[in-house]
Amino acid sequence: MSSIARHNPGLVLLLGLATVLCGCGSQDDPASPTAQDPAGSSAPAEVPGTVEPQLAVTQKQVATDPDGKPVVLYQLSNSHGMQVDVISWGATVVALRVPDRDGRFDNVTLGFEKTESYFEPGPYFGATCGRYSNRIAQAAFSIGDHDFQLATNNDPNHLHGGDQGFNRRAWSGKTINLESAVGVVLQLVSPDGQENYPGTLTVDVTYSLTENSELRIDYKATTDKTTVLNLTNHCYWNLAGAGQGSILEHQLTLDCDNYLPVDETLIPTGETATVAKTPMDFTSAQPIGSRIEKVSGGYDHCYVINGADGTLRSVAEIFDPASGRVMEILTTEPGIQFYTGNFLDGKPANGDYQKHGGFCLECQHFPDSPNQPDFPSTLLEPGLTYTQTTVHRFSVRGEGSQAQPAETQTD
Ligand code: GLA
Repeated sequence: MSSIARHNPGLVLLLGLATVLCGCGSQDDPASPTAQDPAGSSAPAEVPGTVEPQLAVTQKQVATDPDGKPVVLYQLSNSHGMQVDVISWGATVVALRVPDRDGRFDNVTLGFEKTESYFEPGPYFGATCGRYSNRIAQAAFSIGDHDFQLATNNDPNHLHGGDQGFNRRAWSGKTINLESAVGVVLQLVSPDGQENYPGTLTVDVTYSLTENSELRIDYKATTDKTTVLNLTNHCYWNLAGAGQGSILEHQLTLDCDNYLPVDETLIPTGETATVAKTPMDFTSAQPIGSRIEKVSGGYDHCYVINGADGTLRSVAEIFDPASGRVMEILTTEPGIQFYTGNFLDGKPANGDYQKHGGFCLECQHFPDSPNQPDFPSTLLEPGLTYTQTTVHRFSVRGEGSQAQPAETQTD
């Protein structure tokens, strides 16, 4: 796919609207901290009947980053009481609260208790990963005659943008108020040569919370030199509530008939393999843990999204039978990395979460695309605009399993 084909006019419309309606702490902005809450914090009602939930966005400084810049927390809430907390550092989702089937709210995304913990290298909780999320083999690629050597931060490969990826950078934010959504646009200008990537890259990530209980993430980027780009959000989900045990009973459905087999360093071999009759098959709802023992190291694979053509399509559904929470994922991207928190180990550096305490479904282009000419292109050229949209839609369902055991040849 050419980089021009990655341009999405729908997003431009949304961002255009956002620019017009964008407000940031002005007296005229009913959602500004000044107008709404002198302390700048306005939590939606978690106890029914106490505070009427409303569509609103607030902001407040919660820390100072290692360079002395303020870290701002943006709290988006809707009239159903759903709440998304985003910090400017790393354009990171730090909490997302949704009701279970009994109306009880829990935070369902893993994160650190202290904002300062996000400053250290870590498991990328909730972060925006870039410039190239996922892996680049041997931390090297070429564009034309130019060779680029990146940080080998996942020996022997490059992972999630290097030693200091977009997840550990200060982004600047502006709030947005729309008729049926609120949000924040976070912007990062990544200079030419940062982490050895070519070109000054300007990235906008817009998080919006809709009245339909959706977290929508719109990405936009431009460059002044040809570069490679692969952006994703790295939320770890546990629909029972962050810290409430493992996700192995969650039932996953993926609209993916194929996945990318990997070598022992998790670099795609270049083949596309069918999931049929293998433990990789989630084409019908399956408990995540039902066959995980047969997958060496646990799931950490990029799935190929059926029919991906750059338009927004539904690719994944996850159902937690215990809480009744359902999350559907829609994306414009061709791939989705399914990772089952295999490296979580209960240690403070990993937020004290245990192995399989959360799963990630990271919408993105394929790993190592800069070295794999048959994969959709991740090149971005000057004059073109990279766009991506990914939506997380939340709902609840009654009791009862959706899962029927899948046929598995290796049984
Ligand atoms: C991605 C990778 C995993 C792991 C996590 C971060 O999901 O695919 O292998 O590196 O990020 O811990």
